[in-house]
Amino acid sequence: MGYFRENIEKLKGYEPGFQPSQTQVVKLNTNENPYPPSPQALKVLTEINPEQLRRYPDPVGKQFRGAAAEVNGVEPEFIMCCNGGDDLLRMAFQAFCDENRPVAYPVPTYSLYPVLADTQNCTAIEIPFDDEFNLPAKLAGTNAAMTIVCNPNAPTGSFISVNELASLADEIDGVLLIDEAYVDFAENNCTALVKDFDNVIILRSMSKGYSLAGMRFGYAIARPEMIAGLMKVKDSYNVDAVAVAVATASIKDQKYFKENVRKVKSERARLTEQLTERGFNVPDSSGNFVLAQCNNGRAAEIYEELTKRNIFVRYFEYPRLEDKLRITIGTPEQDNKLLAALKEIIT
Ligand SMILES: Cc1ncc(COP(=O)(O)O)c(C=O)c1O
Repeated sequence: MGYFRENIEKLKGYEPGFQPSQTQVVKLNTNENPYPPSPQALKVLTEINPEQLRRYPDPVGKQFRGAAAEVNGVEPEFIMCCNGGDDLLRMAFQAFCDENRPVAYPVPTYSLYPVLADTQNCTAIEIPFDDEFNLPAKLAGTNAAMTIVCNPNAPTGSFISVNELASLADEIDGVLLIDEAYVDFAENNCTALVKDFDNVIILRSMSKGYSLAGMRFGYAIARPEMIAGLMKVKDSYNVDAVAVAVATASIKDQKYFKENVRKVKSERARLTEQLTERGFNVPDSSGNFVLAQCNNGRAAEIYEELTKRNIFVRYFEYPRLEDKLRITIGTPEQDNKLLAALKEIIT
């Protein structure tokens, strides 16, 4: 067409997981939470005052900032509301990366990073993880303007210790963005690092632990100077009034959140065990999904067979992932349907 910037013309956009229109399916392909959002959040949703829709929303989502600050033990100035974690990623690429300012991250990881790098026309320095998914030593020496570590990593579920990430933040000159979209299902998080390091930005999502993927809400945690810089590139009203109200009620309902996380983690342990019994190699995961390696070289075929049965999991045609399936932790009933289907397909 010739209308677009050259890098956009060449760009292959992000491919989201399939969203089936039917409801009678087992959907374990996009790492959503299988349980509904907090009843407190649903109550707030039904009580939205039309006046909140007529007027523009609070540009910084003050109500949510306060609630998230309390939950994370920081001041509200350390928090920025985002239209999903992806909104923060886009802002960070826009703020830190261009033709002369590369991004670096270990691979395999979240497939949106290279797409955002291409939109900024910046070089993406991809450093392969080793077979145990340890933090690659080379990551500290790239001179990138921004280094991203997804922790827990998607789609591997592996977790890098807080101490290792503190050392990385100390060693690099650029920004370290720690993508903690799945951290609600892990045993630890990196919030404490923002107190010691002015180059650390933490990404959080309300899509996974809080069951609000359809609402689009996430947030950043970083030092106030960093937050103020990022605010310069955000949309004027990047989070809407309804989303702020619902996300605030959700994050305040820690009791409901913790119980849901407990259920997902317990089911993760059961699914890991059951898949292992069926011959898959399933490393421990710190996310709400597992990456199951099919030792018989039939990952693509199993994926197709599951799809035919309306059971959706994720298959990536990407180096080192072609022999694996990424499976979101569902309810015990959903996972039992998956396990029964696998039994049928594999034997
Ligand atoms: C690793 C990772 N980071 C960030 C996100 C963005 O999450 P959201 O925009 O739904 O908050 C996702 C979504 O799946 C993800 O997998």
